[in-house]
Amino acid sequence: MGGLNAITTRDASAHRPLRGIWEQGFKSNSIREYSTRVELHVDRFIRILEQTKGKFVDCVPLVTNMTFDIMADLSFGTDYGMQAGTGDPSYMGYLHDYLCALSVTGSLRTLCDFMTVLPYDKATAEYRKQGEKLLDGRIAMGKSRPDIFTHLLGEDIETGKKLTYSELNANAQLLIVAGSDTTSTVLSNVFRELSLHPDVQEKLYQEIHAAAEAGPFDCQNTKNLPYLQAVIDETLRLWPPVPAGAQAQTGPAGATIAGRFVPPLTAVRVHHLALMSDDRYFPQGERFWPERWTESREDGVKDVRAFIPFSFGTHVCVGKHLAYNELRLTVARVSQKFKIELGPNYDDQQYRKACKDYFTIMIGSVEARFVPRI
Ligand code: HEM
Repeated sequence: MGGLNAITTRDASAHRPLRGIWEQGFKSNSIREYSTRVELHVDRFIRILEQTKGKFVDCVPLVTNMTFDIMADLSFGTDYGMQAGTGDPSYMGYLHDYLCALSVTGSLRTLCDFMTVLPYDKATAEYRKQGEKLLDGRIAMGKSRPDIFTHLLGEDIETGKKLTYSELNANAQLLIVAGSDTTSTVLSNVFRELSLHPDVQEKLYQEIHAAAEAGPFDCQNTKNLPYLQAVIDETLRLWPPVPAGAQAQTGPAGATIAGRFVPPLTAVRVHHLALMSDDRYFPQGERFWPERWTESREDGVKDVRAFIPFSFGTHVCVGKHLAYNELRLTVARVSQKFKIELGPNYDDQQYRKACKDYFTIMIGSVEARFVPRI
């Protein structure tokens, strides 16, 4: 991807100023400013579901198009048009291929550094050309637009660091990669779990139906719906978009982890999915059971510190609150309008087998119908 971006920069002193720049874009007042953009794309998604007229569709590409459009809007200031059918799918396709490569290079850091000096192939050249066109268009708009890129154009308060052109490019693209496939796999899995658990779907509908009487849903008024939050957190626990977590390294003095000494400069990682489905922290760890996050919490959550879908520490996901806004709004609006049912040929074993861990999880298709609730 060219220059340094926040997630691949593992050297703490180089990461700190980058992170300082990113954090400006995720303060609560900034996130509030993005809400109207998010709401616009979610509205379009609902209209697309309405147009399916209760027929079976693969909901995964529909959701992916929406989350991609949201991130393209907030990073490159463009209506990319994946939902409208006018966007070029090759750019998104390349980003997915890039993620597959990241699953290898993310573990072999030296290879990753070496690859940046290798000549690149035709597909990469085309992708870079498209990326730079988007970037130049956004830079020309300057700092007046209320989006995340405006903050990437700013500087780190502590050090005064500003991003160079190639760093802007790398970080704007990180925004799309980190922010679109993650939320999209969670949403598809929420729809899948709701269909597999009609009792949960009905209970969620009751909460949503009652709340809808106060007015149309937006990013603010979906924040305090406990069962909605529980359904989302339970899906994040069982279907974390980064199941194996990010690779880290012990420092020059090594580290003592769970009572064992791990030598200096050794690759280590905490596997998010293994931790979050462990019965010691979440009894009946493999069961989809949103109630564990609500009234019977003390039975279902033994140690909340083990809930780490957004990771932890200096690289903890900077987009967490924006992601929750998108997830809550989309699930609330879909649940209010539709009853979700899986297709007659849906096979959960097959679905699980088709999932691939390419740093972020890649899922197969989820054939479902969205039947309007009148
Ligand atoms: C459900 C949605 C999401 C999940 C589960 C998630 C999870 C994660 C995880 C596990 C990491 C890796 C942290 C590490 O290296 O230890 C990460 C990093 C990151 N995420 Fe997210 N993410 C989500 C959505 C988003 C969104 C919507 C954005 C942007 C708008 C975003 C931006 C980032 C960035 C920039 C980083 C790199 C942070 C750094 O290294 O300093 N993420 N995320």
